[in-house]
Amino acid sequence: MLHGKTIVLGVTGGIAAYKGVELLRLLTKAGADVHVIMTRSAQEFVTPLTFQTLSHNPVHTELFNLIAEQEIGHISLADRADLFVIAPATANVIGKLANGIADDMLTTTVMATRAPVLLAPAMNVNMYRNPMYQENEERLRRYGYLFVNAVKGELACGWEGEGKLQSPEIIFEEAVTALTPSDLVAERLLITAGPTREEIDPVRYISNYSSGKMGYAIARAARRRGAQVTLVSGPTALPAPWGVTFVPVESAGEMYDAVMARVGESSVVIKAAAVADYRPVARAGEKLKKQGERITLELVKNRDILTELGRNKNGALLVGFAAETTELLANARKKLMEKNVDLLVANDVTEAGAGFSVETNIVRLLHRNGRVEEPGILSKEAVANLILDRVAELRKDKES
Ligand code: CTP
Repeated sequence: MLHGKTIVLGVTGGIAAYKGVELLRLLTKAGADVHVIMTRSAQEFVTPLTFQTLSHNPVHTELFNLIAEQEIGHISLADRADLFVIAPATANVIGKLANGIADDMLTTTVMATRAPVLLAPAMNVNMYRNPMYQENEERLRRYGYLFVNAVKGELACGWEGEGKLQSPEIIFEEAVTALTPSDLVAERLLITAGPTREEIDPVRYISNYSSGKMGYAIARAARRRGAQVTLVSGPTALPAPWGVTFVPVESAGEMYDAVMARVGESSVVIKAAAVADYRPVARAGEKLKKQGERITLELVKNRDILTELGRNKNGALLVGFAAETTELLANARKKLMEKNVDLLVANDVTEAGAGFSVETNIVRLLHRNGRVEEPGILSKEAVANLILDRVAELRKDKES
């Protein structure tokens, strides 16, 4: 995801400096080449050796280090960076940057870069609320610096309030967003994901093996590309993706209501959910007791959300999914036409490397003009971006 990207990670002196280590791990795991610059006070909290070992690059601490200056130097580091992240960023470093003070390796390099700079503040709540700090942050925002807001919580100094460093996972997410071209800023995406549960009685339900991974990957990728995203999700084991409006539902009926209530404000609807086709005719109020050798459960059809959306698109672009076990293309083409969608993502859920729970997927993209794309086995994240590439193209065609 971050292969080929050079990130400079600035670590300043706060108790949260150790979380910079976790952030470094996430960035390198995603393939980024990370160069760490530590201020003098950061080194009081974590040793440069930790960052050096995990980044596989020398850690920069001194402004006037002749060897480093010859090999890399603060100017060439500033030029090579695709992104700067300072986490944690103290009130001190934010104050310096806001006022043009460049008196150490970190502030000098930041001032010399043209790359985007993402700051994750961490400090005592009273420092955070101090108008001097607030003005400095405001000024940097005006200059185009990006911020990951500090959060409320128990602070290391014993106070409770804002000033806690945002979690490394969310700082990572914002770093990826800063590095991703925002080609979907104008779009409002409504995405469904996961299975639905149709209750039989208070302790039992009918459901399916959908993990939600595909729909969540699309939601995450779309938000990174600048879209406003609403994710309507059946029950899954996944955490809600950062920065999306999350609407949890249980049954197909609830999913229907949640989608219909929001479709009017959406420019694109992507229906990745595995919606149950039938539900029990009635939900028993009490737990059903064991009876004879065989019992019959009577089911009634659920409304098809996608078909309903296809009947009245209201200008929205519609992307459907088809989970098949036989006759993949024929069945998928039928769904494309019958459900009146603009793009259909088909997958044979029995194929190795495709379908539920796994991290990869093998899809075919069916277009209305008969074109079929077969990209082969890809990570769900790559499939998500491929679908969004086509969404961006189709939306452009629609506008022109
Ligand atoms: N879908 C829906 N509402 C339903 C059932 C399905 O919106 N009640 C949507 C799914 O979200 C998916 C598409 O329809 O985008 C196809 O779902 P799939 O389960 O593959 O097909 P079905 O239409 O249910 O047909 P079948 O089960 O016969 O294959």
